[in-house]
Amino acid sequence: MASRADRDYALLSKAALPLASLGREEAASLLVDLLWENLGGTDVSWLGFYAPSADGESLVLVCCKPRPACSPIGLHGVCGRAWRERRRQVVADVHALGKDHIVCDPANLSEVVVPCLASDGSCWGVLDLDSRSLGAFTVEDAEGLRRVLAAAGLTAGR
Ligand code: SME
Repeated sequence: MASRADRDYALLSKAALPLASLGREEAASLLVDLLWENLGGTDVSWLGFYAPSADGESLVLVCCKPRPACSPIGLHGVCGRAWRERRRQVVADVHALGKDHIVCDPANLSEVVVPCLASDGSCWGVLDLDSRSLGAFTVEDAEGLRRVLAAAGLTAGR
């Protein structure tokens, strides 16, 4: 049985490298598959990308695993804050956020969201992971995911 300790971001970063030669949507879709295959058994219940709508007033689901989620979503939630502030969000207890958290699946209790930055520093979307456990994610997860996104060419930076 896999656990949180089995989240191997170094391995995932290596596996994600070939995606950097693809277009954004294809890379995002294949990265969702890769992440779900490797993290789905490690206390992660759902993961996916959201990107801003054409008018920039909401976020729209790009791709996800293993089931659909709500879309579009308002910018007041955790994903919206990560997108607006271009900063990772690690939420140990989503209920503590009240209306600043958008409930897609009431079974989810914690969440990590990592912004995806273009080379000009703008934020083209976010990667969101949910868990049915409290406190399932740490800043190490956020940093590991950022490195995987960078390897896949989906966020700028080191
Ligand atoms: N909880 C997110 C919404 C997306 S779902 O978790 C898939 C938020 O507050 O923005």
